[in-house]
Amino acid sequence: MTMTENGLRLDSPEAAADVLAGLSDFEQALAFYHQHLAPDTAINLSVAENVLLYQQSMDADVFKKIRLIPERNIQYMAAAGVPQLRQQVADLLGRAFGRIVSKDDVFGCAGVSSALECIAFGLMRKGTGTPALKPKDEVLIPAPYWQGFNWSFEERPKLKCVPVNLPTEGKGRYRLTRELLIEAYEARQKAGRRPRLLVLTNPHNPLGVNYDKELLEDVYNWAMTYTDMHIVSDEIYCHSQLNGTTTPFTSAVTLEAYREFAERIHVVWGFAKDFGLSGFRTGFVLSRNPAVHRVMLGSKDPAERTHPLPWFTPFDSLKTYVLGELLSAHHDGERYTTYAMKKYAGLLSDSFRAVKGALDQAGIKYVHRDGDNSAMFFWLDLTEYLGKRADHGHAELPVIGPDGLDPNEEWLFNYLAAKPTEVTLLPGGVMHNPVPGFYRLCFTARPSRDVVDAVGRMAAALGKLT
Ligand SMILES: Cc1ncc(COP(=O)(O)O)c(C=O)c1O
Repeated sequence: MTMTENGLRLDSPEAAADVLAGLSDFEQALAFYHQHLAPDTAINLSVAENVLLYQQSMDADVFKKIRLIPERNIQYMAAAGVPQLRQQVADLLGRAFGRIVSKDDVFGCAGVSSALECIAFGLMRKGTGTPALKPKDEVLIPAPYWQGFNWSFEERPKLKCVPVNLPTEGKGRYRLTRELLIEAYEARQKAGRRPRLLVLTNPHNPLGVNYDKELLEDVYNWAMTYTDMHIVSDEIYCHSQLNGTTTPFTSAVTLEAYREFAERIHVVWGFAKDFGLSGFRTGFVLSRNPAVHRVMLGSKDPAERTHPLPWFTPFDSLKTYVLGELLSAHHDGERYTTYAMKKYAGLLSDSFRAVKGALDQAGIKYVHRDGDNSAMFFWLDLTEYLGKRADHGHAELPVIGPDGLDPNEEWLFNYLAAKPTEVTLLPGGVMHNPVPGFYRLCFTARPSRDVVDAVGRMAAALGKLT
């Protein structure tokens, strides 16, 4: 392997193809393929990345000003984050959520994936305020959903993720309701299962919407009053808000239920999406649950005596330094993070409008209601093209074929990803979408002119299908 200006390169395409063949997650395989094997002309819109801020200001305001690396930041540091960092993140989240957040309830680790896993392990301890979760207990998640919930909750904690399928047709298409959750909860109970955790992603990935406050009040109130479930609110996209969104973002910590049941409501956030710093792997747990606190900080209680869980996936000293600089930076006298998130809303809205215009012009359908948020996604409805074929052949991408995808959904994915179109989307089947033909397009994964270009290329390809 050699290093180039662009990062790590594998010496030969064969070596890269070998690595690719071993990657278990489809989205990560696509990211790897585009880093190491794809032609420069290919446009990858399948991965939830955000390139908007780096060139606009982050490079100049933050990274160009920091020196690598002060001596104290080569040494061990508190795995769940040093107090100053926890305070700065608590302040940042407090501003985003519209409610004061205490640093004592905020814990860092290496990525939101890890934060979710830490919460799961915390809830499997004694002293959560409800019976401890046990392996095989169930996690209800409205589907489609980010496939990583399966890694976080199933692989090591051994809980079981159960999709609650959103309707895919009709007036309530892709809309969550409290009734849907109640129905799913009762059906699982009748089947002798134990749903103990509800996970809501707000804003939603891949639908991009913010959940309405009234719906959230109803759902939380029901779950807290009539069940012994905990709720995890994944708010990793909380700053990814279009200007003029008519259903504003509502954090779980501002809900009525949070006043009485804070110990059963847990929030996660990280710098990967809103700030576009996905490779840094930063995640935060916001929880008032004493068992979750003990998992994050370790416990001296002789009955459980444990080391902090983030020790194994830490908010390490390198991140502490770089993120500390970001959190302390200023732009024209204003706190950089405040400046950046305001600027980001404008950049996001501009990109959204440009790409929406291109999709509309091309006649490519997507699920979106005027005034709704989109976070960084379009949820494309390509069902009308399923089963159609073009008379010229197309090359398959090397060994990315995911197991278990609907064959027509997979064919269309490959058709668009291969030459001459070379646009990569994420097939909805990867995100547990209940029907084939939907694809996630992340419009912040590339500058908007590239995304608009990609839409034109897709339109040309789709037009050839009969
Ligand atoms: C809803 C959601 N939560 C968590 C993550 C993962 O975050 P991290 O990369 O910080 O582990 C993602 C990444 O796509 C996501 O979409």
